[in-house]
Amino acid sequence: TGKFTFDPGFLSTASCQSAITYIDGDKGELLYRGYPIEQLATKCDFLETCYLLLNGELPNATQKDDFVARVTQHTMVNEQMHFFLRGFRRDAHPMAVLTGLVGAMSAFYPDSMNLNDAHQREISAIRLIAKLPTLVAMAYKYSIGQPFIYPHNDLSYTANFTRMMFATPCEEYKVNDVLVRALDRIFILHADHEQNASTSTVRLCASSGTNPFAAIAAGVACLWGPAHGGANEAALNMLYDIQAQGGVEKIGEFVAKVKDKNSGVRLMGFGHRVYKNYDPRAKLMRETCHEVLGALGLENDPLFKLAMALEKIALEDDYFVQRKLYPNVDFYSGIVQKAIGIPVSLFTAIFALARTVGWIAQLNEMITDPEYKIGRPRQLFTGAVTRNVPDLSAR
Ligand code: CMC
Repeated sequence: TGKFTFDPGFLSTASCQSAITYIDGDKGELLYRGYPIEQLATKCDFLETCYLLLNGELPNATQKDDFVARVTQHTMVNEQMHFFLRGFRRDAHPMAVLTGLVGAMSAFYPDSMNLNDAHQREISAIRLIAKLPTLVAMAYKYSIGQPFIYPHNDLSYTANFTRMMFATPCEEYKVNDVLVRALDRIFILHADHEQNASTSTVRLCASSGTNPFAAIAAGVACLWGPAHGGANEAALNMLYDIQAQGGVEKIGEFVAKVKDKNSGVRLMGFGHRVYKNYDPRAKLMRETCHEVLGALGLENDPLFKLAMALEKIALEDDYFVQRKLYPNVDFYSGIVQKAIGIPVSLFTAIFALARTVGWIAQLNEMITDPEYKIGRPRQLFTGAVTRNVPDLSAR
């Protein structure tokens, strides 16, 4: 002891050097490769953002066409994956299914095992980005007992995803542009967020030299937790709970419970380890929320009204003001996804789909860093000192 710095939760330890994402938590700023998230969310689509995160620069028109063509070529998954999926219970949580499916991909691409080979890392990146929507949609279709819908490569990345989610073989599917735009924005806003728990998990996992599919599966598993990616699901469930107890009139009672430390209740979708100001992603998501609810004629949706009332009260309340607790992206993304028709249990899987590119970009950055080493935190030992094992009869 004494030799190591003790920093539970890594509050003041930088685990790596990174040139990908920059967050100024006090100002509420988020940049991918130097570009403000507000500009990316309004001027670029998700695949352009993927290219940027992976390569450091935005693509020109030719590079974009080439990248889109490469991703599109890999949207199908091996047919055996369908049989693997069928081994799960129908009511399995989609994140349990997704962790399994992504991990299983390592078995289909044994050529991906060499993390040091740049070409293999690149093809694995394309495969992961291309297949995640297919896997998420398959997990959904399986849970509701509908046939899988194969990817349709004439459609854009995100339109294709909505079709795989919502089309059935019985009727023609019409892509809804408002929904596609909203989902594409959700993907952009969730694409990377520097060294959060799941990204650090992916880095630590890949630092042993394991293959990218195994490392991303570890990221999916970590993201599942309610303090991380599971917060959008938890936030919407919280709104349902308040609504069930009487809606807007019960907000005061609920907030009092949140402020009581013994209750163990937190305001889900509020607070952030890094943002001590309004989460810039939450601002954009709030805008999308209005757009989607407007387009679907749901402006008077009681859940959305409840969310607005809760946000207003929390933003004015001393408890939240003093602790700099602002709404985070998950507060709104759940409402948007619900309006689009995505079931609550699938929210975190959508987050995983979007974050996959960030995980890969971070993994690549680590592997190509000349200073990279296997991650191996130390500990401050607090257990028993050396002692002798007594005979069984003497214990
Ligand atoms: N509701 C009520 N009180 C809160 C909340 C909340 N959501 N978040 C923090 N606090 C209080 C906490 O009790 C503590 O108070 P005190 O100083 O009196 O003990 C203070 O604020 C600091 O909290 P902390 O737990 O030390 O902060 P942290 O940086 O460890 O936690 C967090 C960050 C995101 C885990 C936490 O704010 C939280 O649990 N939020 C709700 C879950 C959530 O929305 N998570 C999504 C994060 S954004 C998506 C992502 O990037 O993954």
